[in-house]
This record gives sequence, C-alpha cells and structure tokens, in this order.
Amino acid sequence: MSNSPSGERWSTRVGVILAVTGSAVGLGNFLRFPGQAAQNGGGLFMIPYLVAFLIVGIPLAWSEWALGRHGGNRGYNSAPGIFGGVLRRPKGAYVGMLGTVMPVLIYTYYVVVEALCLYYAWHYLTGTLAGFGDDVSAVGDFFVASMGMTEHGAIFTSGQGQFLGFVGICFFINFFLIYRGLSRGIEKFCAIAMPLLVVCALIVLVRVLTLQPLPETPDQTLWAGLGFMWNPAQQDGSIWDTLANPDVWLAATGQIFFSLSVGFGLILTYASYLRKDDDVALSSLTSVSGNGFCEVVLGGMIALPAAYIFLGPMFLSDPQNIGTFSLGFVTLPNVFNQMPAGSFFGFLFFFLLFLAAVTSSLSMLQPSIALLEEGLGITRKPSVAILGFITFAGTFFIVYFSAGLQALDTVDFWMANFFIFIFATVQTLIFGWVLGPKKGYEELAAGAEICVPRGIMFVIRYISPLFLLTVFALWCRRSLPGRWEAIMNPPAGEPPVVLMALGFIVVVLLFFSFVIAGANQRWYQTDKEPS
Ligand code: PFF
Repeated sequence: MSNSPSGERWSTRVGVILAVTGSAVGLGNFLRFPGQAAQNGGGLFMIPYLVAFLIVGIPLAWSEWALGRHGGNRGYNSAPGIFGGVLRRPKGAYVGMLGTVMPVLIYTYYVVVEALCLYYAWHYLTGTLAGFGDDVSAVGDFFVASMGMTEHGAIFTSGQGQFLGFVGICFFINFFLIYRGLSRGIEKFCAIAMPLLVVCALIVLVRVLTLQPLPETPDQTLWAGLGFMWNPAQQDGSIWDTLANPDVWLAATGQIFFSLSVGFGLILTYASYLRKDDDVALSSLTSVSGNGFCEVVLGGMIALPAAYIFLGPMFLSDPQNIGTFSLGFVTLPNVFNQMPAGSFFGFLFFFLLFLAAVTSSLSMLQPSIALLEEGLGITRKPSVAILGFITFAGTFFIVYFSAGLQALDTVDFWMANFFIFIFATVQTLIFGWVLGPKKGYEELAAGAEICVPRGIMFVIRYISPLFLLTVFALWCRRSLPGRWEAIMNPPAGEPPVVLMALGFIVVVLLFFSFVIAGANQRWYQTDKEPS
C-alpha cells in the first residue's frame, strides 16, 4: 500500500525514468542549447557546461531524487510537505513553496511555446509555412503575428483565433493527462512520446547529416556547419578569454538547470511516488544521460549545422538570429523551406518539439496537484480544476500582454533564472546539512544499483553550494540593475506589464502560502510523525 495520500505510484521502473527524462528533454535541448553554445564559445562552451553538469547537475539530481523518495515514504508528495518533514517544523513547509510555484508559473508561458510548436507542425502539414520559400521576412512576420508581438492584445484582435485554439488544445491535452493520474496519464504518455520523439529526431538528424551545400555557396558544407557549432577556434579572442568570461559560466549553469529540470522541485514530487527500496542513484543518472544525449547529439547537431548550410556564417553570427525563439521559429523554418522534402522534415521537427514540450509541461503541473490534494484534502478532480483556473489566468496574461513578449520574458526571468538559483541552493543545503552527510548518503545509497561514491556528500555540502552562490552573485551583479531599471521606468503610455507580471507572481505565491497553511494544519494535527 502506498503512503501517498492519493495512493498513486509509478507502475514501472522504466516509467518513472522516462517521465523524469521527459521532463528534462524539451525545448531547452533542441532550441535553447544550440543558441547558448554558439554564443558562448562553441565547443569551448562544453567545458563550463561539463563542470556545471558534474558539480551542479548530478549532485542536484541525486539530492532531489533521494529527498523525494524520502518524503514520499513519509506520506508527502509535495516539496513543501517534504521540506517541512525534513526540517521537522511547520514553517519548513514554506521553504519548499518555490518547488511548486516555479513549475506552475513556468507552465503559464511554456504551454504557449508548446502550442506554437504544434501550430508550426500543423502549418507544415497544410503547406502555409513551406509556401514562404526562402523569404526570411515572411516567416518572421508569421511568427510575430502568431505571438501578437506588435501590440498588447493583438492576438485577440488580429485574427489569430486559430493560434489561440492551439493553446486551448495544449491546455486540454495537459490537463486531461494530469487528470488521468500519474501512471495512467503521465507515465503512459511519456512511454509513447519519448521513443517517438527520439525516432523523429533521428530521422531529421540523418537528413541534416546528408545535406549537400547549395551550388551558389559551396563552402557552406555540413562539416563547416558542425565546425561553426563546435569549433573553439571559431570564437574571438583566446581560449582563456572565453573561459574567464563569467557570462559563459552563467550561461552554462543556467542551461544545466533548465535543461535537466533539476532544482525546480518537480523531481521531488516525481520521486516521492517511488517505493522505499526503489533505486534512485542509477535512475537519476540514466535520465540525466538521456537528456545529455538529446541535448548534445540531437540538439547540437540538427539546428545550427543545418542553418549554416542554407543561411551561412554571417547570418548565424548575429545573436538575434539564434536566440531560442528566433532560431526555432524564424531561422529553422527558413532552413526547412529550402531543404529537399522540407515540408515533411519541418513537420517532423515541430511535431517532435511538441511531444518534447508536453512531457515537460506535464511535470510542471504535478507538483501543485500533489500540494493541493495534500494541503486541502481534496481529490484530483477539484485540484485539477483549481490549477486549471490559476494557469489559465496566467496564460491569458502572457498571451494578452504580448508586445515584445514582455510578460513572458518577465515570468521567465524571475522563475527560470532568479528563483531557481535560490531554490537549488536551499535544496542542496537541506540535503547536505539538514539531512546530513550520514543520513543523506544512506538515502542515496538505499536500493542503489550502482556504487555511489562517498565523496558526493562532500560535493553536495561544500562545492555545489559554493559554486551556486558564486555564480548567483555574478549573475545578480550583471542582470539585476537592468531589470530594476525596467521595473522603475516602464515605457510611457504603455501598461506597466513588468510590474503587473510581478504582481501576478506575488498573488500565486500568496495563494500557495494559504494552501500550505492549510496543509500544515492537516499534517501536524494528525499523528503523522514528520521524518
Ligand atoms: N527541461 C525542460 C526543457 O529542456 O525544455 C524545461 C523545464 C521543465 C524547465 C520543467 C523547468 C521545469 F520545471
């Protein structure tokens, strides 16, 4: 019998690994990674990336899986419950609040991009996108119009009803699967979607690796394209200039968090549905390696090398053309439009992005469902309805205040860049210092199917937090002053979208703090012994 209040469990070992890998593999792998790597040292980016992977990625993944299973076995499935239990006091639950709020708020904009992927796949099927041929500006206009970027409310006034319909479809799919539950919804979907998306990606990869240069640009070969992405020598300055640049380290650490989905609290929830003696050490390594494969091999070899062949180094050297959005929704459609059988490959690519996005967005919802069920003592149906309402309000806000993607950018900045550092650091400290080296190691090693090196506790206690705090301090120095400016001086004559977005974040935080207050009453009035 399960300890979970909802009685839910993963039904197979592969199922949980695929669900966590599904959460990790997403738009971050196929669109965010290539742009980040190309802008931050090409092949050299792999050095800070690997360092961040080893001292932040793996230790955090291990802590999160082990803490999650530990909490699950004491009857908690949400980050607040798990942290309250480990810290042995009701106030501790508030420390875990970000572990539900961050994923939900990320969902509010991630689902819009997910819908855009499905929308693009659909427009490849119906021939609209392929019809633009090699006209870069037509594809750019299509993207700007789809997202309503020209002015606030444009999506509702400029005939973009069709795109809104796709956002609705994505909402429905996510909530339907969440409503079906852990094993019948998330696990089943990931078991089909993950292999399917890898097969689609491999087909697109083979297409890219067999591309020939255009007759008018014989130098733009596949090898030169791979070199553009991976060759350290392509970058300005010396190797040491690149490696001594804090921006490169910030980019690498941010990419590790975002891509592995570690530090956001959702693995706590996923791992809480494991049994006491289920392995966590090897399972988490399997999922981070699966994500690494999809990122470096599939993500790193498809987008930029293909774009190089058709658009050339000048075009790609402009960072504006390889940011996550521009690379995915303007540059790449252009590439597909010029490629033999491009409609088919365009469809396949955007469909695989869509599948990858759904498996990620599902993982953003489950932590709050767990907290609502636990905290308010309600069943899945009302929790799904409440969460549906909150996320609908958030997504409406993002979609409405779309000029320059301001609302989206603000929520993304605070959740996926700022709070993530804080929560990740808190999580390593709780695992390394509160659970402590002995108990922490025992938790990690219990049921482990590999030998877990004892030195990992030293890394988790000292090296990971120090690294995180250093990178965070550097990041704050670089990024906060500009943001402060934007908050204090909104453009004249326009609604203060940044302030409104921050207001929305505060409202969601307040709502979840009420839920936690309710949860604490239930947790601590029952005879349940915290930890
Ligand atoms: N890892 C996902 C991606 O690479 O697209 C994004 C993501 C999922 C971020 C879940 C945050 C999160 F909580």
